[in-house]
Amino acid sequence: MDSSQHPDALEFPSQHKTALNPYLPSRKVSGSSDDKPFITLTYAASLDSRIAAAPGQRTLLSGAESKAMTHFLRSQHDAILVGAGTAAADDPGLNCRLRGAGGYGGRELEMQPRPIVVDPRGRWAFTQSSRLFSLVKERRGRAPFIVAAVDCLSTRKRDILSAHGGKCIIVPKSSRDDDAVRMAWRDIFRALKSEGIKSVMVEGGGDVINTLLDPADRMLIDSVIVTIAPTWLGQEGVAISPRRDGGDNELRLNNVMWLTLGQDAVLCGHPKKES
Ligand SMILES: NC(=O)c1ccc[n+]([C@@H]2O[C@H](COP(=O)([O-])OP(=O)(O)OC[C@H]3O[C@@H](n4cnc5c(N)ncnc54)[C@H](OP(=O)(O)O)[C@@H]3O)[C@@H](O)[C@H]2O)c1
Repeated sequence: MDSSQHPDALEFPSQHKTALNPYLPSRKVSGSSDDKPFITLTYAASLDSRIAAAPGQRTLLSGAESKAMTHFLRSQHDAILVGAGTAAADDPGLNCRLRGAGGYGGRELEMQPRPIVVDPRGRWAFTQSSRLFSLVKERRGRAPFIVAAVDCLSTRKRDILSAHGGKCIIVPKSSRDDDAVRMAWRDIFRALKSEGIKSVMVEGGGDVINTLLDPADRMLIDSVIVTIAPTWLGQEGVAISPRRDGGDNELRLNNVMWLTLGQDAVLCGHPKKES
C-alpha cells in the first residue's frame, strides 16, 4: 500500500497552516545563538482548564480538526516533550500522522519529531510492544530520548531503547528543590540543544505545563497554542493553574489569535516577556 493512503493519515487545511505560522519556529532558528531550542507550549484543555478527567487518565478532549492541528504542529518541531506521568498513563505514540510525513507518504522519517520523555528516575515502564516502539518498528516515528537525573534504566529497558535508536540523556538534579528529583528546565533544554534539537513542542501533562509556566521558568517559552474544548471535566481533573509569584508580573499572552477548528477554539499567543 502507498503509505500516503495509510488509514491513520491526517489532513490539515493550508489556510490554517498559514494562520499558525507566526507561532511556529522559523527557519532562522537553525542559526540561533540561543542556548535553548525554540519552545512551543501546547495542550488541550476543558472550559475549567483541566487536561484530563483524573490524574493518570487519558481523556479525549479535542475534536478531529484540532487533533489534525496537533499533528501539523508536530511536523514543524524537531522534538515533542512529555513528562513521565503522561508516558506512564497514555502509552503515547508521539509521532506525526500528517499526510506527507515519513510513514504517511513522506520519505524516510521526514517531519517525524523526536519524542522526549522527562523521566528523572525511570518510572516509565515501557516494553518492546509499547505504542511508541511499535511505530518505530513500522518506520512511522523516531525512538525516544529519555531525560533522567541519574543513570536509572534497567538493562532490559536500556537494550530496548538502544535497539530502536533511542538513548538516555542525563541532566543533573537541580538544587532548587530538595524534596523531589527535579531537573531545571533551562538545563533540560540546554541538553536538548546540544543534541542538535532546535525546536521542542511541549505537550504535557499537568506537572510539566504548570512548572514550565512557573514565574521562574516561563521566560523559556516562546509560543503558546492551547486548544479549548467545549466541555467541563470537573474538580477531580488535572488542572492547568501555575503558581503566581505574588509580584506585579502578570502571566499574559501578546499577539493573540483565536482560530475555530470544528467545535474547538484554539488560542495562540506569545508570552509577554518581562522587562
Ligand atoms: N490534554 C492534553 O493536552 C494532555 C497532554 C498530555 C498529557 N495529558 C494528561 O496529563 C496527565 C499526566 O499529567 P501529570 O501531571 O500526571 O504528569 P506529567 O506532567 O506528564 O509528568 C510529570 C512527571 O514528569 C517528571 N518531570 C516533569 N518535569 C520534571 C522536571 N523538571 N524535573 C524532573 N522530573 C520532571 C516527574 O516524574 P517523577 O514523578 O517520576 O519524578 C513528574 O512527576 C495524564 O492524564 C495525561 O493523559 C493531557
